[in-house]
Amino acid sequence: MSELSGLSVAGLSVGYGKALVLDQLSLEVPRGQVVAVVGPNGAGKSTLVRAISGSLRARAGEIQFNGQRLTGLPAYRIARMGVLQVPETRDIFAGMTVWENLRVAFDNLNPEEDARALFDEIYTLFPILAERRDAIAGNLSGGQQQMLAIARALVGRPRLLMLDEPSLGLAHLIIREIYHTLEALRRQGLTVLLVEQNARMAVKFADYSVVLANGEIVLQGTRDELMANDQLVQHYLGGRPAELLRP
Ligand SMILES: Nc1ncnc2c1ncn2[C@@H]1O[C@H](COP(=O)(O)OP(=O)(O)O)[C@@H](O)[C@H]1O
Ligand SMILES: [Mg+2]
Repeated sequence: MSELSGLSVAGLSVGYGKALVLDQLSLEVPRGQVVAVVGPNGAGKSTLVRAISGSLRARAGEIQFNGQRLTGLPAYRIARMGVLQVPETRDIFAGMTVWENLRVAFDNLNPEEDARALFDEIYTLFPILAERRDAIAGNLSGGQQQMLAIARALVGRPRLLMLDEPSLGLAHLIIREIYHTLEALRRQGLTVLLVEQNARMAVKFADYSVVLANGEIVLQGTRDELMANDQLVQHYLGGRPAELLRP
């Protein structure tokens, strides 16, 4: 990967209080690719996303996107550069309607663009959100709330989309629907950092995966490399490659 293209995390150390969660972690997401970070609860996956998005300050290391330094920038500047996260907690405004949620994101992230055309595009991607545009977001199903959280990030025209546990707590059918939409976004060339405890789904979807445990990368490789590495995959992901590949 050229230094100018995609996300580059080099020697990142970050934590809470005195404790370091990630110690000198390095990772790249080449432009146009999907990279998954999988691993058990507490591994440091969300911490990584928070550090990249600027909501958590790096103690050491360097984060760059398309050659521009993100480390040290405030979160809103990073978001305006098109590095957008869909947080694990989704963080939608439960008391506002679907449309109002999107409108707030629009005003914050992308006020120069033609709102109508942009919203039409997003409603095409998530027809259920178009149908429910006047519904109070807190009354949506979990899957619809996740779609809204993704839609809200898309309003900012991401150049890097970071999804933290998009499948968490959702039924299988809804998860498939969400991944179907992610596939459409990937075909448009979007660069994606996908964080999942649901390793099977993520490793199958991603071009390249990184397994994180206790803040350290314990295994990484392309989809094909991981699938070929029976013992390691079994050890770290709990399951045989064949199982990982089952839809
Ligand atoms: N706000 C916080 N304050 C203190 N420690 C935290 C906080 N958030 C996460 N941690 C700790 O950091 C470690 C990594 O957490 P996290 O990044 O949320 O892991 P994951 O997303 O992989 O489940 C865990 O030990 C967790 O307890
Ligand atoms: Mg997490």
